[in-house]
Amino acid sequence: MKLMNTLRQRIGWKLFISYLIIIVVGVVSLAITAEFVTPSAIDRHMAGMTVMMGGNMGGMMGDLNESVRQALNDILLIAALAATATAVLVSTFVTRRIVSPIEEMTQASQRIADGRYDERVLVTGEDELSELAGSFNQMAHTLAQTEERRRQLIGDVAHELRTPLSSIRSVMEGLVDGVLPAESATFLSVQSEVSRLQRLVHDLEELSRAEAGQIPLEMELVDTTTLIHAAAERLRPQFEDKNVQLSLELAPDLPKLRADSERMTQVLLNLMGNALQYTPAGGEVAVIARAETGTITISVQDNGIGIAPEHLDHIFERFYRVDKSRSRAGGGSGIGLTISEHIIEAHGGSVSATSPGPNQGSTFSITLPLDY
Ligand SMILES: Nc1ncnc2c1ncn2[C@@H]1O[C@H](COP(=O)(O)OP(=O)(O)O)[C@@H](O)[C@H]1O
Ligand SMILES: [Mg+2]
Repeated sequence: MKLMNTLRQRIGWKLFISYLIIIVVGVVSLAITAEFVTPSAIDRHMAGMTVMMGGNMGGMMGDLNESVRQALNDILLIAALAATATAVLVSTFVTRRIVSPIEEMTQASQRIADGRYDERVLVTGEDELSELAGSFNQMAHTLAQTEERRRQLIGDVAHELRTPLSSIRSVMEGLVDGVLPAESATFLSVQSEVSRLQRLVHDLEELSRAEAGQIPLEMELVDTTTLIHAAAERLRPQFEDKNVQLSLELAPDLPKLRADSERMTQVLLNLMGNALQYTPAGGEVAVIARAETGTITISVQDNGIGIAPEHLDHIFERFYRVDKSRSRAGGGSGIGLTISEHIIEAHGGSVSATSPGPNQGSTFSITLPLDY
């Protein structure tokens, strides 16, 4: 039983046993063949010799048969021993070649399970084992990235929570100490921080759902023109308050979209809201929509603060803000574009940002397939 377990658990033994089986089959089949073939060969040979030499060689034949068989047995024995010794050597060698990378990977995977995500194994050669080592490393890399993102997310969330909380706290302390007057302006500042926290929590919920690919979409045929007009009208008062001009340049006869109208509105409000937020008073924002073969492109173009090239690649990342202090004043947490991108991708489309540079405006474009 114990022996069977050892055999089952060790590749080296399995390999050795398989070599041994081949040796045994080889030796046994050689012995059996020799047993049948040799006597008749000797008989034929001796019969010829008997005729040639004209004598009775019956006695000699028995002796010859016996000694040939003896010699054959010796040969088989020596060959079997040599083959077995070779099997031991070869299986040890091959096992070491196979087992040591596997053992290395086993140990590395245990270290990864213990949270050491920088663990990698050495990839040598081009066989299946090195392929396995390669994909092992790939997996470790992905795990490390996921872990890094998780850590960063927690750090970001903590950071986002800290500012409103500490400002609420200082107002409260001021109230308790009588330094701040207990009047509506004081309470309003607390209220606005609380709303900011609520928005943040709401955005975080959306973000986690979006990143898990769990934003439920209620797809329907949506009239593109109506959709854009409705979103623009919702924001118009804010544009007027800030004295930023909002214009729509929609191609006539825009085809209908298959989309979740509420989610698409959310994206449009987000892009237009950003354009408003990052465009100084007196500026202009245009929403441009046109259809191409199979797609609709909706662009939100502003002549505001623009985005430097080194930031362009990052603004869709969560919590990424070009100017942290400015966005904070505007209440943004840097999640809006991340969520918008997820929503657009869930519709089979894509969103991109371009800007000639700081203070030269930006354009955000959504491209959606018509037959989605
Ligand atoms: N129209 C725009 N013009 C200039 N910068 C923009 C514009 N839209 C977005 N950005 C930049 O991208 C960042 C991320 O945008 P977003 O995800 O909506 O977060 P926020 O909550 O800060 O608005 C913003 O902080 C801003 O730096
Ligand atoms: Mg925003």
